[in-house]
Amino acid sequence: AITYRPSWWVLLGDMGTGKTSLVLRFVKGQFLEFQESTIGAAFFTQVLSLNEATIKFDIWDTAGQERYHSLAPMYYRGAAAAVVVYDITSMESFERAKRWVNELQRQGNPNLIMFLVGNKVDLQDKRKVGIEDGEQYAKENGMVFLETSAKSTHNVNELFYEIAKRLAKK
Ligand code: GTP
Repeated sequence: AITYRPSWWVLLGDMGTGKTSLVLRFVKGQFLEFQESTIGAAFFTQVLSLNEATIKFDIWDTAGQERYHSLAPMYYRGAAAAVVVYDITSMESFERAKRWVNELQRQGNPNLIMFLVGNKVDLQDKRKVGIEDGEQYAKENGMVFLETSAKSTHNVNELFYEIAKRLAKK
């Protein structure tokens, strides 16, 4: 039997940080070198097995372009988990991630489980944001922290399973 959780997860973060790529890697096992920028938001659904239970859940992948910012509350209000994504090769995207975290703290659901994700860890030689910077910020804000690569698959399954596990405990 499949348990359907009538709640959703949301991905937020600057444009180009790899939100769509992370979801596509997880849901379809695919990666595109030239992934098109999301318009508005995209909806995905996935089924996964966790401790003998099969859970179906929904994911909203929001558009990072600033002109869609005003749409974001529709997706994060009522979300059970939020994944804030930055690109480890862009300090600007890390700063943008912090602004998302502030917004979620002020306006999100108080029980929201928040994840901070530094993506594109395959681009080590272009790294601008240290792993300790992400770790430290996540710790200060009670978030779970992971570095991932949608390209190499590093920590992608771990991320989504960790969300499911945390939600199952609630
Ligand atoms: P918006 O929809 O504009 O908000 O962007 P997004 O955050 O969904 O980023 P998207 O998944 O569209 O990825 C942007 C670009 O980064 C694409 O060209 C991807 O191929 C690339 N990309 C995504 N993840 C990775 C990664 O882990 N490593 C590398 N090297 N490139 C990545």
